[in-house]
Amino acid sequence: MDTARPGSASAGAAIRHDSAMAHCTGEARFGDDLPEPPGTLHAALVLSETARATLLRLDTADACAMPGVVAVLTSREIPGRNDISPSHRPGEHLFADPDIRHWGQPLALTVATTRDAAIAAARAVRAVVQTHEPVLDIEAALRAGDLLLDPMVMRVGDVEAALGAAPHRLSGAFRCGGQEHFYLEGQICLAIPGEDGDLVLHSSTQHPTEVQHIAARVLGCDYSRITVQVRRMGGGFGGKESNASWVAAAAALAARHTGRPVKLRLSRQADMAATGKRHPFLFRWQAGYDDTGRILALDALLVADGGHTLDLSGGVVFRAVTHALNALHVPALRVDGRVVRTNTVSNTAFRGFGGPQGVLLTEDVVCHIAGALGMTPEAVRARNFAGGGNGEQTPYGQRLEGDLVRRVWSEAQTLAGWPERRAAVDRFNATHPWKRRGLGSFVLAFGISFGTQSMNQAGALVHVYADGSIRLNHGGTEMGQGLFIKVAQVVADTLGVPLRRVRITATSTGEVPNTSPTAASTGTDLNGWAARIAAATIRDRMANAAAEHWGMDPAQVEMEDDAAHAGNHRIGFGDLAALCHAKRVSLSATGYYKTPGLHWDATTMRGEPFFYFSYGASVAEVELDTLTGEHRCTGAWLVQDCGRSLNPAIDLGQIEGAFVQGLGWLTCEELWWDRTGRLHTLGPSTYKIPGSRDVPETFEVRLLANAPARADTIFRSKAVGEPPLMLATAVWNALKDATGSRRLDLPATPERLLHAVQAGREPVT
Ligand code: MTE
Ligand code: MOS
Repeated sequence: MDTARPGSASAGAAIRHDSAMAHCTGEARFGDDLPEPPGTLHAALVLSETARATLLRLDTADACAMPGVVAVLTSREIPGRNDISPSHRPGEHLFADPDIRHWGQPLALTVATTRDAAIAAARAVRAVVQTHEPVLDIEAALRAGDLLLDPMVMRVGDVEAALGAAPHRLSGAFRCGGQEHFYLEGQICLAIPGEDGDLVLHSSTQHPTEVQHIAARVLGCDYSRITVQVRRMGGGFGGKESNASWVAAAAALAARHTGRPVKLRLSRQADMAATGKRHPFLFRWQAGYDDTGRILALDALLVADGGHTLDLSGGVVFRAVTHALNALHVPALRVDGRVVRTNTVSNTAFRGFGGPQGVLLTEDVVCHIAGALGMTPEAVRARNFAGGGNGEQTPYGQRLEGDLVRRVWSEAQTLAGWPERRAAVDRFNATHPWKRRGLGSFVLAFGISFGTQSMNQAGALVHVYADGSIRLNHGGTEMGQGLFIKVAQVVADTLGVPLRRVRITATSTGEVPNTSPTAASTGTDLNGWAARIAAATIRDRMANAAAEHWGMDPAQVEMEDDAAHAGNHRIGFGDLAALCHAKRVSLSATGYYKTPGLHWDATTMRGEPFFYFSYGASVAEVELDTLTGEHRCTGAWLVQDCGRSLNPAIDLGQIEGAFVQGLGWLTCEELWWDRTGRLHTLGPSTYKIPGSRDVPETFEVRLLANAPARADTIFRSKAVGEPPLMLATAVWNALKDATGSRRLDLPATPERLLHAVQAGREPVT
């Protein structure tokens, strides 16, 4: 492990990812790299070829007769419950029976001696169905009133009266699309049966505890029979928060049924067909405002396409609704958040978890008001920032730091050289016959904590061995985001040892139980604290042992520079560990943490659901070819508040990656279903994620300098995983600027951009 800063000063140091080298050399093991135990079988999913149907019968005889096939498992072979719901609402099936609700829905599982044989057998299973007309559109589902949840409505003041009293009024509507996670490592689980019903699941999951629970539910056994392990994922991005659980449950079922190890690795096509995506949203709004651009009233409807079941849609809409005003303040408000049911795959967590969709609302409103008043969107947005002369509370009653909102925005403008750049863009547009440049910006306040209070807890287990080496384990999972190195830095700092003493280990439900998913950007906040508490317990015991050994007061003992010190005494950390063992002092401790002070009242939609806010601001420049509709993001300037960053190298990587992922969602990534509900974008040939050439040529990222943070965040740092994805919203605004059109549905594909260019030329009526 890298020790860029020796001694005890690892927190705050720019240290590379602990697996960076292993990722590059190929030595890092992902799910499919684990050695297969002898006799391992392979499984494949049988997927529905209709979007909505009643399953009458599955003909499995041909499949069963194929060479190498060991079993074909249907809902009838499930010993426990055919229920994989993460929200404890019944009705989410592992294998659809009898209602098929989307194209690509799992119907059965084939198990064979090779993966190819399992896949061939899956193709040979015939589903006899009676088809029905699928509902594929948000509008149609909304008209039919088919909601997966009661509407979540947040109200402030009397919005009707405020709209009536406002000097001006405008309304708008727009849509944004979904997004495929496109983690490089697809969903996978290797299930290894032990004796007496025990089962070890090697799962590529952000949520080992939920994998344990859902496998146990499907098998009908106690949680204690199942141990879930994950060293790392090749990306998760929210796609392995709930979806990994049913993949693992299917592998577990096959292992239980055959008594042999079973590996289920989805092909890219099966993964894209059968696993949930980001929620597409439909927005409708009406706003009242005055001549200065101050928004006086906003009435908005946000409708998420939940797909066929609830999954995590409740949490996604909660975040969309609580982030619908973002960093702005509006005195009279109604935000009505809904989730409709359609016959598509059940949509799920994706980096930002409804936040990215929610924050689009006020950007659209601001853009329309700016156009109507002949102001810049920047001026209208700033006119409505929380704080200053405006209120400083979110609609749900939590305080926003208006000064920080203004600070990140002002620093982003400086970084981008806003006035000169604006002038240069205008000069270019005045001369070029068909290319248009555009400039856009964005400012973010993103709440950090899980919306569900009980999830804001974490555990850790730290051992110091008698040679002074340290084994660190906690409930968080590594998906490339750098959680493990950050938590290791915390432990090294707490024990006053160099980072190389700390051994990072795989997440396991057997070591730290009852964990939350690694999600909502809270991984370091929660697990960092839990690990610090565990390490501090051991540190205090070791310091006491040293004090006793020297006949001194424990308060005089310092643990730093890889040793304990007091007065003229010094003992190296390794020697002290050996001494503790000889003196029968325990060198192992658990740590447990829960985020303090959170509260929420779901009936009034009021409370303080977030520990703090993460702030960020961005400027983006685009160049659009108005003849082809193609564009490039030519420049991006980002300022992100990470508090006192625990690891600036990791944080910068997170910000850059998140921005590009956001840019992909907003521009080139488009999911396409035909009229029968069949998804046609099932691989990189038809689904375009950003590549290295889509990274802006000029890409400047800054961590907010001297950022204030609560004293009780871990080492005064702030979360970074999701917020910077939303900074890509500046690209949407830049594209609107380039087209001259106020409506631009997302993703802003060449087709949509050409329409917008056309609309931008027509006089606004
Ligand atoms: N970074 C990488 N490299 N890979 C990922 O899968 N997931 C993102 C973000 N950054 C992800 C990532 C998502 S959706 C979340 S919620 C956070 O990381 C989770 O990790 P954290 O809480 O430790 O930041
Ligand atoms: Mo991230 S969407 O919270 O896994």
